[in-house]
Amino acid sequence: MTVVAVIGAQWGDESKGKIVDGLADRADLVVRFQGGSNAGHTVVNERGKFALHLLPVGVLDPRITSVIANGVVVDPEVVIEEIDELERRGIPVTNLKISDRAHVVLPYHKIQDQLQEQSRGEWKLGTTLRGIGPAYADKASRDGLRMCDIIDPENLHDRLSYVVGEKNRLFSSVYGAAPISFAQVLERTAVYARRLKPFVCDTVELLQDAVAAGKNVILEGAQATLLDIEFGTYPTVTSSAPSVGSACIGTGLPPKAIDRVVGVFKAYYSRVGNGPFPTELDNALGETIRKRGNEYGTTTGRPRRVGWFDAVLGRYAARLNGFDHFVINALDVLDEFETIRICVGYEHDTGRLDRLPADTNVLARCRPIYEDLPGWRRPTTAARRWEDLPREAQHYVDRIGQLIGCPPAIVTVGLHRKCTIVRTPLL
Ligand code: IMP
Repeated sequence: MTVVAVIGAQWGDESKGKIVDGLADRADLVVRFQGGSNAGHTVVNERGKFALHLLPVGVLDPRITSVIANGVVVDPEVVIEEIDELERRGIPVTNLKISDRAHVVLPYHKIQDQLQEQSRGEWKLGTTLRGIGPAYADKASRDGLRMCDIIDPENLHDRLSYVVGEKNRLFSSVYGAAPISFAQVLERTAVYARRLKPFVCDTVELLQDAVAAGKNVILEGAQATLLDIEFGTYPTVTSSAPSVGSACIGTGLPPKAIDRVVGVFKAYYSRVGNGPFPTELDNALGETIRKRGNEYGTTTGRPRRVGWFDAVLGRYAARLNGFDHFVINALDVLDEFETIRICVGYEHDTGRLDRLPADTNVLARCRPIYEDLPGWRRPTTAARRWEDLPREAQHYVDRIGQLIGCPPAIVTVGLHRKCTIVRTPLL
């Protein structure tokens, strides 16, 4: 029995979905524990290409129990669309469980996300506009509706009428926006709730029982450590905590239930949305990485900002999450380069910095100090064993391990699931 947490180590889009899909053969349960439909997990395997936003990657294998746990904010419309799409493609979604405690993203959250972004002006965060921030804010302010509230028609009517009244006061008096219709939101939500009711259950008990019964469980992180509301580059972060602490809060499993924590990186860094990015390559080199890595958002289609591997941030993520191992995805994207740089520290007006400062204004003024490594300048996509990789590529991965303080377990060299080199089996 093993419980493995797969955690994003950068600013998201590290291809965690591919890693979870690769491990899923040996898993009994795959669990999403935070975030919502702002996530975009792309999987390419024998059955085709799948872009999932809310359903755990385990749904691609009906043998696996897929769990949307209490820490996730659930947009019922997106869950239903994803179930329908998979069923159209011949994958029945029968083994899905949604926590009765999970908060629900409703249409007014998406409107509020948009109004707040417009109003932020220069403080705009570049959110995915999926209503994630407002849904977590309502959860914290005790105005949220959970799955157990929406599947009970009476409760839904009473709670929703209060909340919609509050939202309309906010929309009209603060933003001068049109009110939303309570009747329409109620009707839509009631339809979604009827459809999702068979999937709703007490996932806390389900997961605790699964662990007690010795099942293999993958805790599938969404977003990533640098977008963490506690530990990320605040305020340009998401509204949940994608670091490993949430794997407990968001599921009801105790910390001691987690056997292994795996950090997922790409061979370079990328970021969507605003905020400081010390190693950003806003030049032709960056454009090459963006094109080779197909760095365009799964959820929003936005071009992602890209830059060299930042070992200061990598070490921060490794220590914060206690990574036992790390994964390097998309190593092949760097195949062409003569020299590959790793940031090993920052230069700031006040001197050298070797850690992530809390103040993002300080981070924005940090200049990277680089260590240059020789590139390998040959294709790696056909490599299937560590020994198949060019010596320079092995050295690059090992150097990252030395700098961040944990060993590599998996390297991937292409989008397809088969382009995976396993150095240490994780499950
Ligand atoms: P929100 O999560 O939609 O509120 O967006 C807040 C910030 O997190 C924005 O900069 C988004 O671009 C970023 N973000 C949210 N989810 C993801 C993700 O799955 N991958 C990468 N960036 C994300």
